[in-house]
Amino acid sequence: MITTLRDLHSAIDTLREDFLSDASLDSSGKWELYLGKKGRFNELTQALKTLLPENRKDAGKLLNELKAWLNEQLPKSTDKKEREGDDRDPTVPGLDLGVGHLHPVTHAMHEITQIFERIGFTRVRYPEVDGDYYVFEALNMPKNHPARDEWETFFVDVPIDKKVGKIVLSTHTSNGQVREMERLGSTPPIRMINIARVYRRQSDVTHTPMFHQFEGLVIDTDINIQHLKGTIDHFAREFYGPGARSRIRPFHFMFTEPSFEVDFSCTICDGTGKLSNGEKCKFCKSGWHEVGGAGMVHPNVLRAGGIDPNVYSGFAFGWGIERTYTLRPGLHIDDIRMLYNGDLRLLEQF
Ligand code: FA5
Repeated sequence: MITTLRDLHSAIDTLREDFLSDASLDSSGKWELYLGKKGRFNELTQALKTLLPENRKDAGKLLNELKAWLNEQLPKSTDKKEREGDDRDPTVPGLDLGVGHLHPVTHAMHEITQIFERIGFTRVRYPEVDGDYYVFEALNMPKNHPARDEWETFFVDVPIDKKVGKIVLSTHTSNGQVREMERLGSTPPIRMINIARVYRRQSDVTHTPMFHQFEGLVIDTDINIQHLKGTIDHFAREFYGPGARSRIRPFHFMFTEPSFEVDFSCTICDGTGKLSNGEKCKFCKSGWHEVGGAGMVHPNVLRAGGIDPNVYSGFAFGWGIERTYTLRPGLHIDDIRMLYNGDLRLLEQF
């Protein structure tokens, strides 16, 4: 029992020595043993009861110094544990963290997936960091071909892969075409919908450096342009409403022949280019919006995927999700970069 200040001094010295020599415990174990409720420091404070009243003030000072020393020795995290244990007030209302929700582009991705799954497509996913082979070469764009310049590619600064060549951030979801043919052992039928993030060195009101595409690929016997146009029309009606129409215009892609650009009728002026008051529609100017490309799969691409172009044919399309989505009635997003600047005033409206 501690009855004199001398006893207390020697008890404090012993505690300090034990603390310093005790290597068997980690810091939270030490905190428990020395500063916990039933710890050795609290035991020592019982001395205040057994000391003579005139010694209690000095004893209090010694004990405070000891406590400060112990707190200094133990890492901050254990101090915090002590503070929380002592100071937490359960009656203070918690912080309102708010309830989040999915991003509008994620909603669009889910909806697009469902539209295609209902007509027999299977959603697949392929790498967004991929090799030159799948992004360009297998798609009929040989090395050094000028057509590659159109894609404004981000190259990844890593060693060249022996199998797939230079590593790039995929510029389009078309990198999934030959991968899907290989996955199915080059045996059609194929009906894939590949949705992924893609990247290009672009940024303006209609372009973001990272965006999403959805790529359809259908390969079977006797597939022709009517199947492509029918699928595009079906998507337009499901996504924009029963009155929506599509049109295809001749274009050029290395991996499809023939190739098209795909437009959807403007949902503001119903594809006329004019508003009901006779004014020109400012949203589209011409009655139509371009959403992406499409075409009949080039024989060289079928060959790259191990499929005989004399037996099978197919169509493919690849559209921007942000572009497709912002054309919906009621959405007046005239700068698609707004979707990604994290402004809650916009995002909370969805
Ligand atoms: C392609 O990417 C082709 N792979 C599409 C394709 C697939 C053609 C299959 C034939 C067969 P394009 O570069 O036009 O094509 O891009 C397609 C769409 O992606 C564009 O129409 C646009 O909607 C969207 N897009 C392109 N770049 C951006 C960008 N930087 N930001 C947002 N959307 C973009």
